[in-house]
Amino acid sequence: MFFEGRRFGHIVSWILIILFAENKVGHCLNLTNFEVPSLAEYGSSVTLTCEFDVGSATLNSVKWYKEEHEFFRYMPSNHLTDNQIFPLDGINLDKSISDQNHVTLMHLSFSSSGTYKCEVSTDLPDFKITYRSKHLSVISSPKWGPNITGLSPYYAAGQMINLNCSVGLSYPEPRITWYINGRKVGRHEYIVFTHKEGMLVSAWSTLSYETVMDDFQNKNKIEIQCEFVLGDMNVTEKSVSLASRLMTKKSVQESALQSLQSSGDVCANNRLYQLLAITCILLYQNLW
Ligand SMILES: *[C@@H]1O[C@H](CO)[C@@H](O)[C@H](O)[C@H]1NC(C)=O
Ligand SMILES: *[C@@H]1O[C@H](CO)[C@@H](O)[C@H](O)[C@H]1NC(C)=O
Ligand SMILES: *[C@@H]1O[C@H](CO)[C@@H](O)[C@H](O)[C@H]1NC(C)=O
Ligand SMILES: *[C@@H]1O[C@H](CO)[C@@H](O)[C@H](O)[C@H]1NC(C)=O
Repeated sequence: MFFEGRRFGHIVSWILIILFAENKVGHCLNLTNFEVPSLAEYGSSVTLTCEFDVGSATLNSVKWYKEEHEFFRYMPSNHLTDNQIFPLDGINLDKSISDQNHVTLMHLSFSSSGTYKCEVSTDLPDFKITYRSKHLSVISSPKWGPNITGLSPYYAAGQMINLNCSVGLSYPEPRITWYINGRKVGRHEYIVFTHKEGMLVSAWSTLSYETVMDDFQNKNKIEIQCEFVLGDMNVTEKSVSLASRLMTKKSVQESALQSLQSSGDVCANNRLYQLLAITCILLYQNLW
């Protein structure tokens, strides 16, 4: 019982310590909002945000780093100038907008890509320091693409589909993938070519695919998609094209007969439907 009581005493003192610590939170330095976009377009501007709560302490400094190299410092105690700027490759600061909570980077170049860190510290006596960091990637989306060319409106089952899909100059390199009826096409069925201009790369791909009857199951249509993804970035775009099945005299007869034979079909037991199908076959035979 005595032991139990001592343990209880321990718990109480721990609770007191925790409560005291909680109370101290008011003096805690906290980064309340940190925003760095993961992706940004080449040539554009971005604003990085670093908002904080110093509680009852006084702010000492806000420092921004790219890959551990400081490029901006806000220090209220420095009376000569609040903002200090350190030149760094890929960093073009808009001084007029940059302050204790924001830095604006203009004319982003590929060398602006990197890990950005905001570090906030409070003054003595309760000197505290905290930071957050995030990676920013500068990309250049293509001006056009993916463009699919070479598609005929009709293909017979068994016929080859030869297409070209192209994507304009981009960074990183666009990776092209084809889909037929939503299924990824095997890598042996298409070839990819690239063309480099400085950092930018354009790409095009030729698809040679032999259609089968099953490809036209959805309303006699085949759906072809060309997609590109920029490197390992989460930037992707898709084009969709549709072509119909070419109906020859023979294939019309086959499909009409198939409809008659498929017993599970809703229309299979419908006499009128059967008559229509037969009339259709007869009409085609007369016409062709
Ligand atoms: C720090 O800021 C975040 C975001 O506003 C908030 O959710 C969190 O409770 C804060 N932490 C402290 C210790 O004040
Ligand atoms: C791709 O399509 C776009 C828009 O339709 C067009 O402006 C562009 O010239 C095309 N590119 C090629 C290489 O055909
Ligand atoms: C595919 O399209 C690209 C871009 O328009 C072009 O440069 C290339 O020559 C085309 N390839 C073929 C095989 O048509
Ligand atoms: C990629 O972007 C999509 C849509 O914006 C998002 O749902 C997905 O979580 C992202 N994936 C990664 C790995 O960032």
